[in-house]
Amino acid sequence: MSEESKTCEQDPFCGVKSAKDPANATDFEKKHTPVVKAPDQVKKGEFFDVTVEVGKVVPHPNEAGHFIQWIELYSGDTFLSRVELTPVMTDAVVTFPVRLDHVHTLRAVARCNLHGVWEGRKGLKE
Ligand SMILES: [Fe+2]
Repeated sequence: MSEESKTCEQDPFCGVKSAKDPANATDFEKKHTPVVKAPDQVKKGEFFDVTVEVGKVVPHPNEAGHFIQWIELYSGDTFLSRVELTPVMTDAVVTFPVRLDHVHTLRAVARCNLHGVWEGRKGLKE
């Protein structure tokens, strides 16, 4: 099935936002786009750490009325993990130990309670 023919029910990334022009992202886009930190090169079958941060390039509020609710990590389209966050008492910085049999682009998805779901990516090499 091609990307274009998927319906929203079949696509977990449907409606996910990202910077329209990543090289010239606005402050609003920067404060919501997850930043994925991982080694550039990884070995199949060996654990490595992936840290996802939201609101560190441009600060995002972390208060009861406006905060990052959760962060998910995917390898390509494969779901790996999800962390629920609370305002004030937790920060939108999460480290996931990851081991992959197939190396794909890492995709982090985070939800702001006011501004929706945003995606950031990092390519990996074997
Ligand atoms: Fe927000």
